[in-house]
Amino acid sequence: MGVLELRDVGLEFPGKPEPVLSGVSLDLQAGEFVTVVGPSGCGKTTMLRLVHGLLSPTAGEVLADGEPVRGPSTRRGFVFQNDRLLPWRTVIDNVGFPLELQGVPRAKAREKARELLTLTGMGDSESRYPGQLSGGMRQRVNLARALSLDPDLLLMDEPFAALDAQTREVLQAELLSIWARRRKTILFVTHQLDEAIYLADRVVVLDPHPGRIREIIPVDLPRPRTLDVKRTAEFAASVEYVWNLIKHAILAERRVD
Ligand SMILES: Nc1ncnc2c1ncn2[C@@H]1O[C@H](COP(=O)(O)OP(=O)(O)O)[C@@H](O)[C@H]1O
Ligand SMILES: [Mg+2]
Repeated sequence: MGVLELRDVGLEFPGKPEPVLSGVSLDLQAGEFVTVVGPSGCGKTTMLRLVHGLLSPTAGEVLADGEPVRGPSTRRGFVFQNDRLLPWRTVIDNVGFPLELQGVPRAKAREKARELLTLTGMGDSESRYPGQLSGGMRQRVNLARALSLDPDLLLMDEPFAALDAQTREVLQAELLSIWARRRKTILFVTHQLDEAIYLADRVVVLDPHPGRIREIIPVDLPRPRTLDVKRTAEFAASVEYVWNLIKHAILAERRVD
């Protein structure tokens, strides 16, 4: 059984002429890394919000471990593009915060937070405040915090989009290493094709208006993957393939802007 299943999911907002998502079916296996790409406005964030339980589908259903999703759960962690770190809490107390909300005493929460900060390469910065960190460091803390309740499924919405190209690549590689060690299932949204391919077991390509699945592409690049794989001909061919699927929608959207 898949850990996450979308069955013919549709979503309409009242007063909007066309559905945001239509007929989306997707099955994630435990431990799988699936990425979702598509032009902006095609419903990527909406899809994650449905999976997280922040929105309910108006057609079809979303199942987690075989049960309909009825609201957010600690078994699903969400990493947003803009981290929601609390500026008045230190790094370690930001990471421990979800545990404290669950009633874990602060000392115990800090112990767990320290372990996760080491995992995400932020072990040396536990006493700093978010305002003292670079964008890349904040996202490392953000990821540690999303892992604090040990969710089975991580939902990530363009988490590296605001970072410079080098930092983004380093974080991509580290995310793969964390994923391999922690055996999470990850559903990761991005609009960057190279990021989508580098990370994924499968890439879901969405078409806009209404958002629907154009194609699901298996990525056969061997693992573990270092960043060098991005410089191979096989990788370039995959990027080219996905680009050809979505370029019409992307160019159309650019013209409208
Ligand atoms: N709460 C909402 N009410 C009405 N329309 C919405 C709402 N949230 C998103 N939309 C619309 O749904 C479409 C998809 O948005 P979104 O999922 O954010 O796209 P993406 O993340 O792919 O850029 C957009 O047209 C957006 O305007
Ligand atoms: Mg979005």
